[in-house]
Amino acid sequence: MTADLQKYRAVVENAKDLPSLASVVSRLIEMIKSPTTSAAEIGELISEDVALTSMTLKLVNSPFYGFSQRINSITHAIVIMGFSKVKNLALAGSLLQSFKSGDAPGFDYGGFWEHAIGTAIAAEVLAEAIDSDYCDEAFVAGLLHDQGKLILIRYFPEESAKVRKLIDRQQSTMFEAERQVLGFDHSQVGNWLAEKWNFPEHLTLAIRLHHSPLLARQHRQLVWLVHTADIFSRALCIGDGGDPYIPELSKVLWNQLGLTPSLVDQVFKEVLSGMAKAGEFLDLIRKN
Ligand SMILES: [Fe+2]
Ligand SMILES: [Fe+2]
Repeated sequence: MTADLQKYRAVVENAKDLPSLASVVSRLIEMIKSPTTSAAEIGELISEDVALTSMTLKLVNSPFYGFSQRINSITHAIVIMGFSKVKNLALAGSLLQSFKSGDAPGFDYGGFWEHAIGTAIAAEVLAEAIDSDYCDEAFVAGLLHDQGKLILIRYFPEESAKVRKLIDRQQSTMFEAERQVLGFDHSQVGNWLAEKWNFPEHLTLAIRLHHSPLLARQHRQLVWLVHTADIFSRALCIGDGGDPYIPELSKVLWNQLGLTPSLVDQVFKEVLSGMAKAGEFLDLIRKN
């Protein structure tokens, strides 16, 4: 690690006001990481926490999932949606609540979260379209892929202003401009936060490698899904990805994911219709 990188990392790690996770969220992450955790144990953990239960049930009952009957308990949600889906949804909701929206000048928090939710939905829809093993993890990975941007804007406002100027002046993407100004980009910063919060490995890797997907060695398909979903949500003009450019999807990933023009067309339609029904996810942020 270069001296500069170490210096920046130390600022982030020692920041007193870095968001900390509620203990129930840390316990949820620990349980999700452990392969021996049973559905009953996670169900119990969520049910014991009134706020976590009501938030999870609100998301479960969102028009986004389109269940005709109302789901009134975590046990019922697990029966209907499956254990893996419910635990990932609880994680997504509780992490959304952990971030506080700020008011940094020049940073569009609303646009940021819309992009995050658009990418989350695109990752999930795409995962299902290609019958991926990561259907349940894709949403939360897409949701948090750009979390490093929130740290940069908060702790490095001067550098962030330089990055914005460079994006306009050179017409470069945000991560390229960050690399020029800082020597690293928001995916690296997102990785520091993921490690600090002890995220599961697949989630950490999806955040760390979302702008360099071909470097992935483990959980490759999840990394590829998030990278592609980021491009899709930009292509669909959902929210604010930090710059107005749509990177080209590499041929290697196009082939690896088995994409076809008609499949992409279908995914785009489903993402837009999912976005129109995902108000509950945006609500969680607006309440902060
Ligand atoms: Fe990014
Ligand atoms: Fe992004």
